[in-house]
Amino acid sequence: MPVRNSLDLVWPSEGLTRIPYPVYGRADVYDEERARLFMGATWNFLCLEAELPQPGDYRATFVGDVPVIVARDLDGSLGAFENRCAHRGALLCLKSGGHGAEISCVYHNWTYDLKGKLTGVAFQRGIKRKGGMPADFKLAEHNIRTLRVASFAGIVFGTFSADTPPVEAYLGPEIARRIQRVMHKPIKLLGYNNQLLPNNWKLYVENVKDSYHASLLHLFFTTFRLNRLSQEGGIIVDESGGHHVSYSKMASDQQSAEYDSATLRAKREDYRLADPSMLAGRDEFGDGVSLQILSVFPAFIVQQIQNCLAVRQVVPRGVGETELVWTYFGYADDDEEMLRMRLKQANLVGPGGYVSMEDGAVGGFIQRALPGGAADCSVIEMGGREATSQDTRATESSVRGFWKAYRAHMGL
Ligand code: FES
Ligand SMILES: [Fe+2]
Repeated sequence: MPVRNSLDLVWPSEGLTRIPYPVYGRADVYDEERARLFMGATWNFLCLEAELPQPGDYRATFVGDVPVIVARDLDGSLGAFENRCAHRGALLCLKSGGHGAEISCVYHNWTYDLKGKLTGVAFQRGIKRKGGMPADFKLAEHNIRTLRVASFAGIVFGTFSADTPPVEAYLGPEIARRIQRVMHKPIKLLGYNNQLLPNNWKLYVENVKDSYHASLLHLFFTTFRLNRLSQEGGIIVDESGGHHVSYSKMASDQQSAEYDSATLRAKREDYRLADPSMLAGRDEFGDGVSLQILSVFPAFIVQQIQNCLAVRQVVPRGVGETELVWTYFGYADDDEEMLRMRLKQANLVGPGGYVSMEDGAVGGFIQRALPGGAADCSVIEMGGREATSQDTRATESSVRGFWKAYRAHMGL
């Protein structure tokens, strides 16, 4: 029997293998996601600790599309609160961040400390005993709503819900271990990319979890043997379904030969890079894993492609638009050669990246095809119908996992 919920959205009886297209296009679904997912019992990426090195540092960020400020208070502790003035609701922090003991709203100069506590109201006593706030007005009743904050492996997460389990329990041991594999020593920030995607945020998250497309859509990957499904690797899907890891090792010559004999759009034996230094890398983790893409439900990604390390924050900007924020990093103890390698490999990803440019477009291909498809759904049966870990990447298991967690949170 199809399942109905408060959204009156019919979920196909096939379950995780069918995604009804209206979830990508309906405004009421988008609003419900804000309430149930982003402001619900989930941990969301706020920033890297390295972005708040000093007491008094703060940054503007988002949880879903809700504007948030994350700050390192003067005592060194981390806190987060909504980036919305308690007076008339203006954005408090208009830039990417700042530094100071307090934050003042530009509109009427209400002032807050770095925990979101209201500390001052301009003209509270009026001018020459005229005007001003009522005598019983209390600053303490107008603090900004705060988030619970937890730092794990140098990544600062926030949640609006009191019900979210501790962050390590939320991630589970396998995902936590794979995050720690990358975040295993002090990092050094290298830079940012911001990119607007012409599609619903979930289409990008699905794309990240979809290891099936990588060697088919991204010709650069395949042509230059960076990532092929014949490489040793697999997919890890956590218990909830919502988090995943896709990993692979460099291909052996024998595996490459098998791939080359397959009939693929990507097969271009005659193509060689004139400057192969782009692909020169070090096995810096000592495990031969040259690619590890990890996602944390609902909308956060940790990426290791060769030596290109980054986190990606997926920020919904309405039903059909998404901002993708890339933060690139290396390690504090990187030598000069390693730093150059990371910067060069950063060309693989980002809005114009050799292997990620197409990801910025395919979501739009789906979004643009939504009209007329309200009664239809996608078919996600690669690798079976379950949402479990598999030792192959010829699977859509982690995409099904996303919908398993999504449905649980959304009550669908
Ligand atoms: S809106 Fe912020 S002080 Fe008025
Ligand atoms: Fe991709």
